[in-house]
Amino acid sequence: MAGFIICGAQWGDEGKGKITDVLCEDFDYVARFQGGNNAGHTVVHGGRTLKLHLIPSGIMYPDIVPVIGNGVVIDPRVLLEEMDALEQQGVSCERLVISTNTHLIMPWHRDLDGANEHRLGANEIGTTRRGIGPAYQDKASRLGLRMQDLFDRSIFREKVATALEEKNDLLAKVYGLPTYTVDEIAEEYLAYGQRLKPHVAEISPLLNEALDQGKWVLFEGAQGTLLDIDHGTYPFVTRSNPTAGGACVGTGVGPTRIDRVLGIAKAYLTRVGSGPFPTELAGEMGARLIEAGHEYGTTTGRQRRAGWYDAPVVKYAVQVNGLTDLAITKLDVLSCAETIKVCVAYEHLGVRYTTVPGHQSAFHHAQPIYEELPGWKTDISGCRTFGELPQAARDYIGYLEELAGVPVSIIAVGPDREQTILRDWPRR
Ligand code: GDP
Ligand code: IMO
Ligand code: MG
Repeated sequence: MAGFIICGAQWGDEGKGKITDVLCEDFDYVARFQGGNNAGHTVVHGGRTLKLHLIPSGIMYPDIVPVIGNGVVIDPRVLLEEMDALEQQGVSCERLVISTNTHLIMPWHRDLDGANEHRLGANEIGTTRRGIGPAYQDKASRLGLRMQDLFDRSIFREKVATALEEKNDLLAKVYGLPTYTVDEIAEEYLAYGQRLKPHVAEISPLLNEALDQGKWVLFEGAQGTLLDIDHGTYPFVTRSNPTAGGACVGTGVGPTRIDRVLGIAKAYLTRVGSGPFPTELAGEMGARLIEAGHEYGTTTGRQRRAGWYDAPVVKYAVQVNGLTDLAITKLDVLSCAETIKVCVAYEHLGVRYTTVPGHQSAFHHAQPIYEELPGWKTDISGCRTFGELPQAARDYIGYLEELAGVPVSIIAVGPDREQTILRDWPRR
């Protein structure tokens, strides 16, 4: 094996960071391929907790090469702060490689993200307000600034001036917000460029040569399948493609180099921000899952919405990503439930759906159909093999496999790297 993709099979926060960290022991390179600092990935090992937003989750391993792919949007100030914070915790960022083609999040992107949400009012997307959407919008409009622009003063100033012609009008005339000058932006951003320059390189040749040499490359997704701009619950989505295809586009590696695509799914379900969520639990059980699972966003601190596991969502993720297998995380959290419900299908206007309906209205009004399984009501966070899990927990995993149509090869029973059951993961 050589090329391996990890992607979220639900609405994000599935524990991708933790699983990436577990698997990176075997890898030579780990590459983020989309998103930006809307992502929040928590990694726990040896009493240390890292909260990562832009840096790939394998950073704790001293020999791995962490890569930020061209599909990522970078707020350079946030990236430098994250690098400094890691260095202070004794985690070296020296080997970090950043694609020359990453697009930059500029101050007006952050302003416009917030202003747009404000304008939408009750219909807001619930974005992280980090400027992600507006930065990708400018990329698509061919008005974006890229990492490589930071290394040529006159090109950078020219491109900022062109962008500001439009942005200052928008900020001042549409939203009544302060504007920017080329001088202030150039001074700040060219200084970021000087600090980041030693890390910037062309990453497509780097990763392709690594794969040619038989090295192992792990592609780490952010967000999740149902937040994908093409395949998610539009318009309640992010602006990139967190699905497996995004790994190829976002790094310059062809699909023929990919050997395995692992989907990460929580043993229940959460979502941050607005949008449909058929299995959402508003009452006491939802509160119990939020408390037991510490369901507060790593990036914004917002309380996540919680609900039962939704098999049609994961089945859809299997299809859209071509998942070869699944990792089920946070199984330990379900120890708080006497009985566990699993949504096996939806019903809308007399039609039964076993995967995500194609029409938005059907999904918005989908009534979940549940199967109820016995809980295990015992602490499983110390289990390290599948056989050590109580029978009810093994049956639960078996049921999820049956519904998804792919095997569950990894199970997480706690946040720490050690709290992981590797069922089908040959260590290198
Ligand atoms: P990501 O965005 O997919 O990387 O997920 P986050 O890091 O945002 O959210 C997952 C949260 O659950 C983090 O706080 C993890 O430390 C934690 N976590 C991951 N796996 C497990 C698990 O198996 N059990 C428990 N209790 N917590 C977990
Ligand atoms: P990780 O990588 C969960 C959600 C936001 C909002 C929508 C659009 O930690 O799984 P954006 O700022 O991207 O324009 O917001 O997407 N969202 C996430 N939800 N986990 C994430 O990342 C998310 N990144 C964005 O809450 O609903
Ligand atoms: Mg997260």
